[in-house]
Amino acid sequence: MSHSAQAVEQMPQVSHHKLQCIGCGANCAEASADFRCENCGDLFEAVYDWPEIEAETVQRFWLRRRTSLGPLDQSGVWRFRDFLPILQDLNHVITLREGNTPLYQMPGGAKSAGVETLLAKHQGMNPTGSFKDTGMTAAISVAKEKGFRWVACASTGNTSASMAAYAARAGMRSLVLIPEGKIAWGKLAQSLEYGAVTLQLRTDFDGCVNVLTELVHRYPIYLLNSMNPYRLEGQKTLAFELLEQLEWEAPDHIVVPGGNLANSSAIGKGMLELHRAGLIRRLPQIHVIQAEGANALVRTVRETGGKKLVPVKAETLATAIRIGNPASWKKAVRVVEATGGSVEQVTETEIAVAKAEIGEDGIGCEPASAATLAGLKKLVAQGLVRKNESVVLVLTGHVLKDPEYSLKFHQGELLKDTGDQAAMELHRRPPIVLDGTVDAVLPMLESAGKNE
Ligand code: F0G
Repeated sequence: MSHSAQAVEQMPQVSHHKLQCIGCGANCAEASADFRCENCGDLFEAVYDWPEIEAETVQRFWLRRRTSLGPLDQSGVWRFRDFLPILQDLNHVITLREGNTPLYQMPGGAKSAGVETLLAKHQGMNPTGSFKDTGMTAAISVAKEKGFRWVACASTGNTSASMAAYAARAGMRSLVLIPEGKIAWGKLAQSLEYGAVTLQLRTDFDGCVNVLTELVHRYPIYLLNSMNPYRLEGQKTLAFELLEQLEWEAPDHIVVPGGNLANSSAIGKGMLELHRAGLIRRLPQIHVIQAEGANALVRTVRETGGKKLVPVKAETLATAIRIGNPASWKKAVRVVEATGGSVEQVTETEIAVAKAEIGEDGIGCEPASAATLAGLKKLVAQGLVRKNESVVLVLTGHVLKDPEYSLKFHQGELLKDTGDQAAMELHRRPPIVLDGTVDAVLPMLESAGKNE
């Protein structure tokens, strides 16, 4: 018997999950096509009983899997499959070896935010360049197991890129609904490249969701938006992987950008499960940062104490989070409350400057991800984060997703009339056109060197 086979026998079997409504608590074995509770219209979450087990045994076991060559063990999601009892048969798993993303030190970001040390968990280093892959591997595997031929999502671009890739791997057809002209080119290109039927609708993201919600009742197509609770099951593994990278010492704070609010909800669910199972001793505070122009959660918390959603007409250049009617708002409120976190909003200039600073740390990310650093500065200024506390930013998307934003920023064309030009000017490095001679290049180098 091999070493890992012995270990498998030591791991207790977790009961198969149930879906439970977060509103009325109803349990159901099979959700309706739009993943809304038939009693009260709320969302479901996957629940299951976790058996008593010694934390160190589980932690050692997961670490050992990292040396395995098996495809499930090489996935940063399925390596934690003991907490993912969502499939009847693991042979249905569709994986692109997602997860396994780096945790970076951010010295420049720390300095500008006013904290001693700062870490970034870069989910943009996933196979299709965003955190969506960790949720997609879970939900598409369920779609495969259920025998669906078609999958679909409405998207601001990353979910669709991810879904298209995983559907192609699974040999399934995929339908993408995106708001026309409002998604970054890198994301649109991915959807085409991976063979999705890509429809650019003349509406916004929230309008695309409305069309899809009706469509799934009229055609046998599996919904892969984050109303689908299996997406969150995959995304929650960020918590497991991060804590393993931190040797199971929870950070004080985790800062996440918020759009449709699934990711913050999922990370919170993961943390709460780890806490309940005794794998971590304390919970990190989860802070959700939104763009000022797409601030439904911030308004919901500030104006109703988190009781009733305040939808907004969303507008932001961080197109990934240009969402006004977030599906998972209730789950996110619950996570913020359960972890003692907060919600905050940031301006377009603050996002642009923070993105440039993350780039200057040699890391880079897409605009929505930069909302985290911009938000952290505010949390520090308000005393919600102290300078000697540990902070992890969740960077959700790769810098190459939205190169147009970067080019416009550095060429001085971004937020030309509305932004704080002085704040942005400090970080602008426009490309310079010169004659192709050393005599032309040398003076540029000398003058750039003078500023050091
Ligand atoms: N960051 C990026 C890069 C995103 O693509 C998204 C969401 C978010 C943050 C916000 O995450 O919605 O879970 O709160 N993008 C979705 C999409 C909506 O369709 O790609 P959330």
